[in-house]
Amino acid sequence: MNSRVGAVVPAAGRGERLGGGTPKALRPLAGRPMLLRAVETLLSSTLVSQVVVAAPPTLVDVVGQILGSGVRVVPGGAERVDSVRIALDALDDDIGVVLVHDAARPLTPAKLVDAVATTVLDGHPAVIPVLPLTDTVKEIDAEGRVVRTPPRDTLRAVQTPQGFRRDVLRAAYANRDLPVTDDAGLVEALGVPVTTIPGAEEAFKVTRPADLVLAEALLANSVPRDGQR
Ligand code: CTP
Ligand code: MG
Repeated sequence: MNSRVGAVVPAAGRGERLGGGTPKALRPLAGRPMLLRAVETLLSSTLVSQVVVAAPPTLVDVVGQILGSGVRVVPGGAERVDSVRIALDALDDDIGVVLVHDAARPLTPAKLVDAVATTVLDGHPAVIPVLPLTDTVKEIDAEGRVVRTPPRDTLRAVQTPQGFRRDVLRAAYANRDLPVTDDAGLVEALGVPVTTIPGAEEAFKVTRPADLVLAEALLANSVPRDGQR
């Protein structure tokens, strides 16, 4: 396996649950776009040597200007899986390890990026950061009746970055029509083992308006780094 690590950042979503008009990736958090924060965190890892961003197709140039010449920007697709596939194809040929990281997780700590990449480089073909759940989860039927209550201590909430050997992720994406909601789901369908490592609370996804309030509050309480929050 080539040990060069690249990252792909799906950022082409509309942010419908967040609302507010502007595509979510460009929504500012304490004055700076979420996507820029996510990309800077990836680039701050000494392990990551290339970043490819899938942007809303009409905003490829705008996103390119925001991120600067060190980041490749490609037009995203209709669904997240399409955006990831397009960005994967734009990685340099010699990238052997891929991190897939949502633009919508702007406060992800750099040490989580390093932990995921290191675990793949240590020989795990697929690695995901996870956290225990706080709410109980029910499985329901089409009528909304409860079918089952899985024991909570066996369940985990899944974050990004998710890390993969590139050949494994490429094979997984050949099956991208499967109804899965994360990249590791496609890898599981191949029968490849997926390793979990501890996630980070700050790596939460900005999905609804209250998440934006939380992210702003966390930034307001953080110690400024290089004069920037
Ligand atoms: N994403 C993407 N291309 C799409 C859809 C989503 O690149 N066609 C990206 C989003 O930009 C985001 C990540 O996938 O960084 C996670 O998706 P989500 O949080 O669902 O973002 P949106 O799809 O933008 O939000 P919503 O589902 O509320 O519209
Ligand atoms: Mg979405």
